[in-house]
Amino acid sequence: MGDDLTAAGTTARDLTAEVIGRLDHCPDPRLRELVTGLIRHLHAFALEESLTEAEWMAGIRFLTEVGEMCSDQRQEFMLLSDTLGLSMLVDQINHGSRGSATESTVLGPFYVEGSPWRINGDAITDDFGAQPLLVSGHVRDTAGRPLVDATVDVWQNATNRLYAVQDGGQSPENLRGRFRTSADGAFSFRTVRPVDYPIPDDGPVGRMLEATGRHSWRPAHIHFIVSADGCIPITTHVFDSASAFLDSDAVFGVKGSLVRKLAAHDAAAETAPAGIQGSWYTVDIDIVLQPDP
Ligand code: BEZ
Ligand code: FE
Repeated sequence: MGDDLTAAGTTARDLTAEVIGRLDHCPDPRLRELVTGLIRHLHAFALEESLTEAEWMAGIRFLTEVGEMCSDQRQEFMLLSDTLGLSMLVDQINHGSRGSATESTVLGPFYVEGSPWRINGDAITDDFGAQPLLVSGHVRDTAGRPLVDATVDVWQNATNRLYAVQDGGQSPENLRGRFRTSADGAFSFRTVRPVDYPIPDDGPVGRMLEATGRHSWRPAHIHFIVSADGCIPITTHVFDSASAFLDSDAVFGVKGSLVRKLAAHDAAAETAPAGIQGSWYTVDIDIVLQPDP
């Protein structure tokens, strides 16, 4: 179909050039570059796929539904970007070469600013369920220097798969908290082992996943935003190596360097930490920040 004549006697290539030409007076060079690229790729996509009118209309309807699903609580366009791999592609472009610094991944929709400040060693939940987890770690810079007073902001889901912000049954402060590292850069907290969960799939993005034979699951993880004076902050996760979804994360957020084995412990073999009975898990996490040049 490439260069077929349109009804007006122009070829598809002429049409693309004409649409791009209308940007000649765009005052912002970067905006012009981006819109030019978008038009070029959109037109090439329609041509390569010989897009039918019915398919084009279905796409318009889908994007309309994505917009209609958006609210203060739900960002369906972000979910679309996440599930099409665009969010992680932008992450790679912007944070691809971090040297020895901890790698970044998606923020996700369940971050709530202003989590309660807690003291190292505190619990971020009252309900440890059957699988208590003790998290400890250090924050350092890429030269190995401990970062004192770094902020470690964490959030995760409960054993019912839901984050507090999704679940009226949880206290709004459940399973989230901010910690400050001590003089040796250390932080620690007690929690419950996070579980695999589906991203919100009751909207058009969920239907897109279903129609394309994909699932909506994310592998179990804890979210971190870590910041320190003089360093570039990092938004990342720690993934549970036991998850069955590490190779098929619905939003492509897994990086091998972020996967950790949660070590199992049993009170029959060792002394349980205060407040914990039966079995528990531990994980040690080192977060490395890049100095801000
Ligand atoms: C999350 O990990 O919370 C998340 C990330 C992207 C999309 C949906 C959820
Ligand atoms: Fe998450």
